[in-house]
Amino acid sequence: MTLENLQFAPIGLLQDKVAVITGAGRGIGRVIARMFVAEGARVLVSDVSGEEQDTAAELGDAATAFRADVTREAEIAAMFARGLEVYGRVDAAIHVAGNPGGRWGDEISEEEFDAYTSVHLKGMMFCCKHAVRAMLPGGGGAIVNFSSAASYNYDPMISFAYSAAKAGINSLTKSFAGKYGAQGIRVNAVAPGFTLSEKNQSIPEQAAAVLRAKAALDRAGFPGEQAAVAAFLASDRASFVTGITIPVDGGWTARLA
Ligand SMILES: NC(=O)c1ccc[n+]([C@@H]2O[C@H](COP(=O)([O-])OP(=O)(O)OC[C@H]3O[C@@H](n4cnc5c(N)ncnc54)[C@H](O)[C@@H]3O)[C@@H](O)[C@H]2O)c1
Repeated sequence: MTLENLQFAPIGLLQDKVAVITGAGRGIGRVIARMFVAEGARVLVSDVSGEEQDTAAELGDAATAFRADVTREAEIAAMFARGLEVYGRVDAAIHVAGNPGGRWGDEISEEEFDAYTSVHLKGMMFCCKHAVRAMLPGGGGAIVNFSSAASYNYDPMISFAYSAAKAGINSLTKSFAGKYGAQGIRVNAVAPGFTLSEKNQSIPEQAAAVLRAKAALDRAGFPGEQAAVAAFLASDRASFVTGITIPVDGGWTARLA
C-alpha cells in the first residue's frame, strides 16, 4: 500500500449492513460507497448529479442508485423510502453531499449564502430527520455526517458561510445523538482537512501547497482515509461512540491556536 494508492484490506467491518450514502456520485462519497461494499454492505448511492448511476454500475448487485437533491426534504424522504423498499431496513446513513468551495471570507453574495446553508445545514437537518425515521423500526442505526476542519476556526482561505454551515452540522450531530441515543441511534461527524477528491486534484499548486502545509503530517489526505473513519463510525466497533465530530485532517485542527 502506498499513500498515493491508499486502499485497506477489507475485514468484513460492515457485513450485511445496509447504508444510504449521499454525495456518492463522485469524490469522498464515491470512495465511501466502494469501501462500504468491499466491507460487506449493500448501499443506496445517492447524488443530484446523475453520477450516482456510474457509482452503482461500478458496484453491481450491492448497489442501487437514487437521484436526490438534499436541499429538498421530499426528495430526502423518498431516498430513505427507496432504501427501505429495496433492502428492507437502513442500518447506516452517510451524509456526504456538499458543495465545497466558494469565495473566501465574507466576500459572499446572498445567493451564495443561501446555496451553502441550503445544501450543508438544511440538507443535513432533513437527512438526519429522515434517517432516524428509517432506522427506528429496525431498532437503531448509525449516522455519519460530513463536516469540515473549517467548522472549528477562522481560516482566511475558506468561505465564512461554508464554515458556519459546517459548524451547524457539528451542532446537529450532537442534537440528534442526544435525542435518539436511547433508541439505539448513534450520530457522529467526520471533519475532513484538505483531501484529494477529484476536484482538489486540479486546484492551483500554489493554493494546494498552502493547504497541504496546514496539516501536521504536511500532506493532503486521501478519500480512502475519510472513508475508513466513516466505515468505523458506521460499524458495531463504534458501539459506544456517539455525538462527536472527529477531525480527519492530518493534525490541522491540532495546530489551531
Ligand atoms: N475534499 C475536501 O478537502 C473536504 C474538506 C472538508 C470537508 N469536505 C466535505 O466532504 C464532503 C465531500 O467532499 P468532496 O471533496 O468529495 O466533494 P465533491 O464536490 O467531490 O463531491 C460532492 C458530491 O455532492 C454532490 N452534491 C452537491 N450538492 C448536492 C445536493 N444538493 N444534493 C445531492 N448531492 C449534492 C455532488 O454532486 C458531488 O457528487 C463535502 O460535504 C465537503 O464539504 C471535503
